[in-house]
Parts: sequence; C-alpha cells; structure tokens
Amino acid sequence: MHIRTLGQGLKVSAIGLGAMGMSQSYGPNPGSRGEMIDVLRSAVDEGVTFFDTAEVYGPYVNEELVGEALEPIRDQVVIATKFGWDIQDGRMMGLNSRPEQIRRVAEASLKRLRTEAIDLFYQHRVDPGVPIEDVAGTVGELIAEGKVKHFGLSEASADTIRRAHAAHPVTAVQSEYSLWTRDPEAEVLPTLAELGIGFVPFSPLGKGFLTGTVDASTAFTEGDIRNRVPRFAAENLAANQKLVDHVKGLASAKGSTPGQVALAWLLAQQPWIVPIPGTRRTERIRENAGATQLALSADERADLDSLAQRIGVSGDRYNAEHMTYVNR
Ligand SMILES: NC(=O)c1ccc[n+]([C@@H]2O[C@H](COP(=O)([O-])OP(=O)(O)OC[C@H]3O[C@@H](n4cnc5c(N)ncnc54)[C@H](OP(=O)(O)O)[C@@H]3O)[C@@H](O)[C@H]2O)c1
Repeated sequence: MHIRTLGQGLKVSAIGLGAMGMSQSYGPNPGSRGEMIDVLRSAVDEGVTFFDTAEVYGPYVNEELVGEALEPIRDQVVIATKFGWDIQDGRMMGLNSRPEQIRRVAEASLKRLRTEAIDLFYQHRVDPGVPIEDVAGTVGELIAEGKVKHFGLSEASADTIRRAHAAHPVTAVQSEYSLWTRDPEAEVLPTLAELGIGFVPFSPLGKGFLTGTVDASTAFTEGDIRNRVPRFAAENLAANQKLVDHVKGLASAKGSTPGQVALAWLLAQQPWIVPIPGTRRTERIRENAGATQLALSADERADLDSLAQRIGVSGDRYNAEHMTYVNR
C-alpha cells in the first residue's frame, strides 16, 4: 500500500480503517469480539497502518477494542482518537472541549488504547463554548508532554481551522466527504491546501450506500444509525439510486467494485487525502485497500466530479439536530 503524508509530516497508509462500526452504528457485528480483534490485526497484513476510533464510540469500548488489537503491533500503526463530547452514564450530553476535560479524556484514552502516546488527537466537534485557541493550546501542551503527537479537528469550518492552526499546527481535518457529500470542496479543502494540512474523509463509502449493497428495500436492524439519517429514508434512497447505479456502471467497465471507484475518486482529489472506510470484514478491508490500485482517467474523474450535481442528492447527511454541530 502507498504511504501518504498528512500535515506536519505524519505518514499513514493511503487508506485507513475506521473502527467505529465494530462498536456501534451499523447493527450487530458479523462476529465475536475476538473476531473483531483478528479483523483489526488483519488490516495491517493488507497494508493498512492508520486506525480511527473515538472516546465516544461505544462509548469507550471501541478504544478498548482497538487498544487490545493493536498492542502487539503498536510500533507499526498510527492510532487516531477524538475528544469533545460530554459523556455521562454512557450517554452524550452535548459538547465539552474545556481544557480540563481534554486532559481527562487524553489520560483515559491512553489507558484504553494501551499506549504511551496518542498519534493523532482530534476535537470531534467544535465547541462554541470554548475558544478554539484554548483547545489548540491544551492539545499543544499534551504534545509538549509527549502524551499526544498530532492535533486534528473534525467537521470544523475553514475559519476555525485557520484560527486553530495559528495557535498550534493542525495535522489533519476529518470531515464527511464522498461522491454524495461534497461540502468540504467549497472552503475547507482550499484552506487545507493553503495551510499544508491533511484531510481524512469519514464515511467515504456513504455509510455503505456507495458500495451498491444498500437500496430502498434494505431493512436496517434496530440501532442502525441509517434508520435516522434522512438520506437513508426509503424515498430518498430510491431517488439516490441513480447515482450509485452510475458508479456501478463505471466500476463494472473497469473490472472493479463501486466502493473502489468511490475511494479511488477521493484518492485522486489530492495526495494529502486519506479516506478511512469502516468495515468489520477482512475481505472488505482487502477490497477497499485495492482502491489504491485503481487509476481513473481524466474523463472518468470529470464525470464523477459532476455526478452529484447532475443527478442530485436527496436528503440531508445528518438529522436536523446534528446538522447544527457541523461546519462551526
Ligand atoms: N469524525 C466523525 O464525526 C466521524 C463520523 C462518522 C464516522 N467516522 C469515522 O469514519 C469511519 C468510516 O465511516 P463510516 O463507517 O461511517 O462509513 P463508511 O466507511 O462510508 O461505510 C461503512 C459501511 O460500509 C460497509 N462497507 C465497508 N466496506 C464495504 C465494501 N467493500 N463493500 C460493501 N460494504 C462495505 C460497512 O459494512 P461492514 O462493516 O458490515 O463491512 C458499513 O456498513 C468510521 O468507522 C469512523 O471511524 C468519523
């Protein structure tokens, strides 16, 4: 697998692995906890060295799983996690990026991840109650103490990214970006290009939709977040089918899979973009890693660039409440 460089010289595999789905969001796991540990370890055999988790996934149990899985191969991998939610009795009670909270989360995450340093520590959502300079300053102190190596932001606006970077160099911004979610292109990506910050698209497979394995007849199990995402309401899925059908057509013409086309398109946008598809299956880790071998011609890229605009995308990517948390 190729290696890519995010900001501040952080080197990671061109495709990472999102671990969230092993603890929440997409229904029951296809295997036991022990099997999920094996799947995480198998990613390294496929060339993946960049793993994504967060305090709030589970909460806590996803970091514990990632920590246990990667402990024997800790020196071969880069682990990213996130702070910024106020979690009480296992429930998210709003945002909290106050300095003392960031420190508390760092200490707890270090233990759960069984490591001496967190490679990349993202603020999960911008907290309007805490100046971003204070957040950057606190993470900067943790970096000076050797507990954290790099600072990141998630779903931050271009203005916030600029202010944060002026207070402490930002290594990566992680926000939703895919063939059907193009928001970062307007302001965030040009800002990152200017400042030399890397970009980590989350939900790069459109929460599974862009792989062609989900359609309007799919019944999501209880607890699957797609039951609450407007884009996955049956009538919106039916309208969005045209988009994925087009991706499927291109994939079969190229002897690849729709998911590989979706990831290859992201990889082609910039050399400092590193998608983190989430899966709980080794064969899909292998398939997703295969996107690094898929070259898109200029015509194919131009076709995919204009796809969402040509066809249109029905439904928001989050429910109305959560939409207030992004781009702040
Ligand atoms: N910063 C944030 O706020 C934020 C928000 C959301 C996610 N994330 C991070 O981003 C990571 C990825 O995002 P995501 O998991 O939401 O969405 P995603 O990667 O776009 O899609 C995940 C879904 O696609 C399926 N899938 C994966 N590879 C596949 C393949 N080759 N063929 C068919 N289906 C495939 C998975 O199912 P199986 O698991 O059953 O294979 C799962 O249902 C997460 O794990 C998390 O670490 C961050």
